[in-house]
Amino acid sequence: MPHRLGTTMAVQISPSILSADFARLAEAAAAVSNADWLHVDVMDNHFVPNLTLGLPVVESLLKATSLPLDCHLMIEDPDRWAPAYAEAGAGSVTIHAEAARAPVRTLRQIRAAGARSGFALNPATAVEPYEDLLGEIDMLLLMTVEPGFGGQKFLDVVLPKIRRARALIERHGGQIWLQVDGGVAAETIERCAEAGADVFVAGNAVYGAGDPAAAVDALRALAAGA
Ligand code: DX5
Ligand code: ZN
Repeated sequence: MPHRLGTTMAVQISPSILSADFARLAEAAAAVSNADWLHVDVMDNHFVPNLTLGLPVVESLLKATSLPLDCHLMIEDPDRWAPAYAEAGAGSVTIHAEAARAPVRTLRQIRAAGARSGFALNPATAVEPYEDLLGEIDMLLLMTVEPGFGGQKFLDVVLPKIRRARALIERHGGQIWLQVDGGVAAETIERCAEAGADVFVAGNAVYGAGDPAAAVDALRALAAGA
């Protein structure tokens, strides 16, 4: 297990409610009470070609669940909107490198509002140019599909970047969480864990399963054993 250089890695599962019934989000949250986070995909139909939900729904979800919310902002102007998600009470707020114009300021504002700061890279975005930003980041998110939709096929092409990101993180002290999002399922989660990911988003693999809580446990066991 070459990636386990640090001592701080622990497997966390963050089910994505994008694959749940949007008319029953409170029930969807309750169905995965054994998860570590609830992953909330905010899409604006500009940064990605899909439209989901925004701050009012996040505010309602915060009242409906005790799971911390992992808000993934796939929106064109995260500098403008991200701090409000943190102020509302989200536990983690992730902005995209491709969309942020002032990522250092925005990541600092997220932290100042009491949330963990997340920074996301699309499959074709290299991690190396952001090495100097690692001190501003609590979680690095590597997309393993092109963002926009659940249920897509995992992109193996991202695996070498997961390894390189893990090495950068270890060089930086090992405290930053490394999240993967897209096509993460029983068939792919071990590859991600072996490459160095420690936080796993899963939409279809959790909410497409007959028993979402059992799916969370099964994914956790696979990742921990990898
Ligand atoms: C895709 C979203 C993901 C999505 C993952 O743009 O960011 O969080 O819900 O869904 P699955 O696990 O089905 O690929
Ligand atoms: Zn996501």
